[in-house]
Amino acid sequence: MGENITAPKIRAMKASGEKIVCLTAYDAYFGKLADNAGVDLILVGDSVANVVLGYPNTVPVTMDEMLHHVRAVHRGVRRSLLVADMPFGSYNASVEQAVENAVSLAKAGAESVKLEGDYSEAIAAIVKTGIPVMGHVGMTPQSVNNFGGFRVQGRGEAGKDVVSKAKSIQDAGAYAIVLELIPADLAAQITAELSIPTIGIGAGQQCDGQIQVLHDILGLSSETFKHAKRFAEAENLLGKAIRDYSCEVRNESFPTVENSF
Ligand code: KIV
Repeated sequence: MGENITAPKIRAMKASGEKIVCLTAYDAYFGKLADNAGVDLILVGDSVANVVLGYPNTVPVTMDEMLHHVRAVHRGVRRSLLVADMPFGSYNASVEQAVENAVSLAKAGAESVKLEGDYSEAIAAIVKTGIPVMGHVGMTPQSVNNFGGFRVQGRGEAGKDVVSKAKSIQDAGAYAIVLELIPADLAAQITAELSIPTIGIGAGQQCDGQIQVLHDILGLSSETFKHAKRFAEAENLLGKAIRDYSCEVRNESFPTVENSF
């Protein structure tokens, strides 16, 4: 499948015009599956909180929980760039705290970290330490309580604030930036004005790359989202397999002599 993807390579893909394919993963099995499928960048998203751990949103997930999942995905990934989300509260208090937690994620196997919002000083300090940083603006889920829910950000005049945050994050040294749930024309403007790649989720077609939550594209949840597409209906498939298994155990058609020793 070619050589390993690095942060400088992701950055260079903007100039070459090659679309950047990004996906979340939360364990070694799915990390390997995405890696083998040729995904460029795998994010151990803090969405592990709601997608896997049963929390209502990303706010409660801790550094220890993120470290556990980063180590697991690291064991499955060979070629894709492995990025770890910095969880809420792990970089917001001070630059020192941000550097210390970014270093812990790097020691667990992350080749880059992502953090939400315009924490320019923290971003510059983490980059100076030697860890590439991805920014994230627009609907930043760790601020869901400030936004009053998950809704599109940056409409009308508010778009200027998103543009200025994106530029400040680029100037701080980030090599790429996630644009989440913002109008497509605003995302196109930011993509044209930045020299680093933009990675969209609910931000239209003009971004330099796209990122999705793995479970959303696999159809592994009962919820559907306008910004996502179900490329499979895995929940139906897996539910049926479990019902078939239960049925065969109950009617004694499994196990058979072939499954016995
Ligand atoms: O945690 C997450 O899933 C994210 C998205 C941008 C995919 O940050």
